[in-house]
Amino acid sequence: MSKRDKTDKRHRVPPSDGPVGVAGPPCPDLSAGGTPTLVVRPYLKGEGAHARGAVTPVGRATGPLAQTGPEEMRLPAARLEEAVSLAQAIALVVVESCLVPLPAIRPATYMGSGKVEELGQLIAARGIALVVMDCDLSPGQQRNLERAWSVKVIDRTGLILEIFGERAQTREGRLQVELAHLTYQKSRLVRSWTHLERQRGGFGFLGGPGETQIEADRRMIDERIARIRKALKTVVRTRDLHRKARKAVPYPVVALVGYTNAGKSTLFNRLTHADVMAEDMLFATLDPTMRGLRLPSGRKVILSDTVGFVSHLPTQLIAAFRATLEEVTEADIVVHVRDIAHPETDAQRGDVIKVLGDIGVEDRADKPVIEALNKIDLLDADSRNEMVERSRRLPGKIALSAASGEGVDRLLAALDEELARRGVTRKIKLSHSDGPAIAWLYRHGDVLERHDRATAVHLSVRLNDVDWQRFTKTHGHAV
Ligand code: GTP
Repeated sequence: MSKRDKTDKRHRVPPSDGPVGVAGPPCPDLSAGGTPTLVVRPYLKGEGAHARGAVTPVGRATGPLAQTGPEEMRLPAARLEEAVSLAQAIALVVVESCLVPLPAIRPATYMGSGKVEELGQLIAARGIALVVMDCDLSPGQQRNLERAWSVKVIDRTGLILEIFGERAQTREGRLQVELAHLTYQKSRLVRSWTHLERQRGGFGFLGGPGETQIEADRRMIDERIARIRKALKTVVRTRDLHRKARKAVPYPVVALVGYTNAGKSTLFNRLTHADVMAEDMLFATLDPTMRGLRLPSGRKVILSDTVGFVSHLPTQLIAAFRATLEEVTEADIVVHVRDIAHPETDAQRGDVIKVLGDIGVEDRADKPVIEALNKIDLLDADSRNEMVERSRRLPGKIALSAASGEGVDRLLAALDEELARRGVTRKIKLSHSDGPAIAWLYRHGDVLERHDRATAVHLSVRLNDVDWQRFTKTHGHAV
């Protein structure tokens, strides 16, 4: 399913076979709607300066979102809010969410027995079918909580794997997610609940809980991991071919990146629905998260959407996440979509910039990062005017609302301006005797490729608009 259809879909918990050797919790028939879900954020007391209270329903979380040091900036309430929106991203119906302060982590059930019981009552009373624990659970903890509550329990890694599984569009992305999932599963060797099992009908972990079964399971996972690794090698080769094919489409790529829930998909939809390019056919073979877009100048670009960033990405998911970001490293312009109305907008910005830096994308002249300061409609009138005014003065920052459309024209104009400034890649064919024209291109442009054929010299040159006009005026040889 396309990421952009996510608001329409309903997520269903598949029938459960339960962990190895353990009767899995019963799974209700949820065909009529989304899964009623409880999101729990346990945290150690002292984590986050202002968090207090026992089980605190979100929205009634106490304490201002004032911040202290950089890591302390992510208060439990904000982390809980993020976990809720992650759950909603795969259309789980979050009927309740709560913070659970803990004096210490309990090996058996993560939380103390009183808290487990308290939550158990809530789960029964609200007809909850799935609990998302926003923490890392050991396999045993997961199993024990499932037993205590008689519902499915997934932890943060499980939840993010679900999201990546749904969002991974390329074959490489899907393989990376599957690899991450198998590694995760191997570490617990339980029959867990994931998209992969749903798609493939499971890995056949049925059977007794004995060592032999676990060893057989482990061997099966190892074999599957080996097959995926092999497939990944082939995929990397085909990816290079695809990249070449895409390069043959002579349009610059604009990649949208940003924190989860920042509004990337909303912006992507607003931009592309407004103007569906006839050449969309060209992109039929490309990733479905890419669309053609025509800028006000008439210039065409490919707009590419990416999976959202999250804080505290589980380490085993980093490769899968990066695979989904491959387009970003290839992009001509990166648009960093920010939820400017979010209390942690600055911390989120820092996280995104750090990951971009890790994958080699920095705000440089040859790969500019434009910040789309989204959701200005949620600001009060004064802050909004100030934000708009400030962004007018700051190059590379555009205040807008993807929801209302305000400011989107300025983003398009900024893309146009940037492309005019830095130029686009043009294919030029010149005869061998055109030495001065070739020399001119080397002087003024960025010659990316050159092929000397029998009849002509074929060049791929990046030129800005002004130089392009000068070139065609004086040389007029372009094809
Ligand atoms: P991920 O897929 O999780 O990475 O999220 P995303 O960045 O694609 O965000 P998405 O477009 O799904 O938007 C998240 C939520 O913010 C949705 O409920 C949108 O309706 C809402 N939203 C997006 N842009 C705006 C905006 O400009 N104003 C307001 N008020 N809401 C917005």
